[in-house]
Parts: sequence; structure tokens; C-alpha cells
Amino acid sequence: MTKVLLATDKPFAPVAVAGIQEICDKAGLELVKLEKYKSPEEFKAAVKGITAIIVRSDIVDKAIIDASDALRIIVRAGAGYDNIDLAAASAKKIVVMNTPGQNANAVAELAVGMMIYLNRNGFNGTSGIELRGKKLGIHGYGHIGKILAQIGKGLGMKVYAHDPFVDKVLIENDGVVCEADVKDLYRKCQYVSVNIPANSQTKNSINFDLLNTMPEGATLVNTARKEIIDEAGLLNIFEKRPDFRYVSDVAPDNTEQLKKMFDGRFFFTPKKMGAQTAEANTNAGLAAARQIVGFIKDGDTTFKVN
Ligand code: 3PG
Repeated sequence: MTKVLLATDKPFAPVAVAGIQEICDKAGLELVKLEKYKSPEEFKAAVKGITAIIVRSDIVDKAIIDASDALRIIVRAGAGYDNIDLAAASAKKIVVMNTPGQNANAVAELAVGMMIYLNRNGFNGTSGIELRGKKLGIHGYGHIGKILAQIGKGLGMKVYAHDPFVDKVLIENDGVVCEADVKDLYRKCQYVSVNIPANSQTKNSINFDLLNTMPEGATLVNTARKEIIDEAGLLNIFEKRPDFRYVSDVAPDNTEQLKKMFDGRFFFTPKKMGAQTAEANTNAGLAAARQIVGFIKDGDTTFKVN
């Protein structure tokens, strides 16, 4: 029987796992579950005899790919696939896919939730500030950015966006001001949400110079990847700008340093939480299972990224 491995260090909600199981059962595929595994070695050992893998942020490196002997497809149940070694997969003619947009609403809601949490001082009883009337800059107008724009407008924020890959008209049709130059987005908006993938162009691209142009009350919101932030620049902006605040899913590598000096001006999730809702797990998990069935049964390669 063709085997599908669900390898999730951070498990999906039970309802999503049940849905994946049902799709596999109906298609005559055997689902093997490897949840909350303790080490990459355990993952490596589990790929033997596996045809398809579903992962989340789990690292699928060359060692894991090379340990596979029947693997044809890896689906990242989510948006970012920077956790998968695409070159190693392509070298073995293994198809890699993601499930774009499926967890976007959950991520957008978390971005807003973190802004409100920080603005209300962690709900500690002290007086905070509101979002209404403030400017929200959306850096990266994809699935998440689009939803964030709707929520921001619902909260009475003025919404701006920058995305060189999205037509200006599509942004403006949403009632959002399009900024062609990323610097103008940061210069105008007190709140900037970063929704861009982590790749060689974007890593360390959010730096001191960009952040320092933000107006008084600057708040950076990162539900993307910690690697896109230049951490030396982050430390510098915290030092030079007492008004600067940062919320992120998840914590930067220099968290301990930030804790010592700037406590109260940031919030970091303990674990990547953006897509951690029953709805997002179900949307992304089921999409991944369906894409695997489509590929195995019909050779469908929609959403292939390599
Ligand atoms: C994504 O890229 O889709 C998000 O970062 C979600 O990651 P997760 O599946 O590990 O929660």
C-alpha cells in the first residue's frame, strides 16, 4: 500500500488529522503519523518506504531526502517552504508543493491580536493605546496581506501596502493605498506588518535604516520569518528609538539581550503560532492530503514549487 507520512513536530488539531486520515482512507493510501517527534533522526528513520510526506515547519533537509527510498512528493501544509531543501528534492525528482492561502486568515488574525496585546500592555490593567486612526503598512500583499487590509480597515486604520509582485490596481481596488517604494511604506506607517517569504533577497532586509524612517510610535509586526529581520539593526533601533516596539511570531535569536534592556516593548510567541488554529490546520492539512491524492492518482502538479 502507498504510504503517506504526516510528520509534524507541532501537531495539527485532531479534527484536521481526522480529515487527512479520511482523505487517505478513501484514496486507498496508508497514513503513517509521526507527531511530536524528538529528533531529526526519528524523522529520518520514518521516511523509509514512504511515497508522500506532509510537513509543517519541519526541517526536510538533504539527509532526510537522501534517506528516503520511495519518496515522490513532499507537501508543506502551509505557505513558507524555506524549511525544505528544494535542490536535494529536485535532484531526486521529488515534487515539492505548498498550500498557499490555506492558513492566511489565522496568521492575519494573530498579527492584529499581537498589535492589540502590545497596545494594551499585555492586558495588565494599565492604560494603553488604540489602533483606530493609525496607519497600517502591509509589506507583502499576498493572501495574508489582503485579509489584514480588511481587518485593518474594519478597525478604522488607514491601510497602505507595498508589493512589487502585485499590480497597483489590485491593491487599490481593495481601498488600500499602494506604495511603489518600500521606504515610503515605512516612512508613513506607525504599524508595519511584514508578510514576505524568507529567501536570499529578503533575509536581513528589514534593517535599521528602514525601521528608523518609521514615524513616532513605530511598531513592527512580524508573522513571517525571524530571518528577514536584521537582528543587529533591531537591537540598534530599540536603543536609538525609545518609541520603537516589536511583535513577532516567533522570538528573534537575540531575545535574551532584548529582555535585559527593553522589556515591555515587545512580545514574542513561544512557538510559531500564526497557523495554529483548528480552521487553518484543517484547511492546510486537508489541502495537502488532497494535493497528494491528485498527484499520485492523476499526476496533478498544481502548487509545485521546485
Ligand atoms: C506558514 O509558512 O504557512 C506558516 O509559517 C505556518 O507554519 P506552521 O505550519 O509551522 O505553523
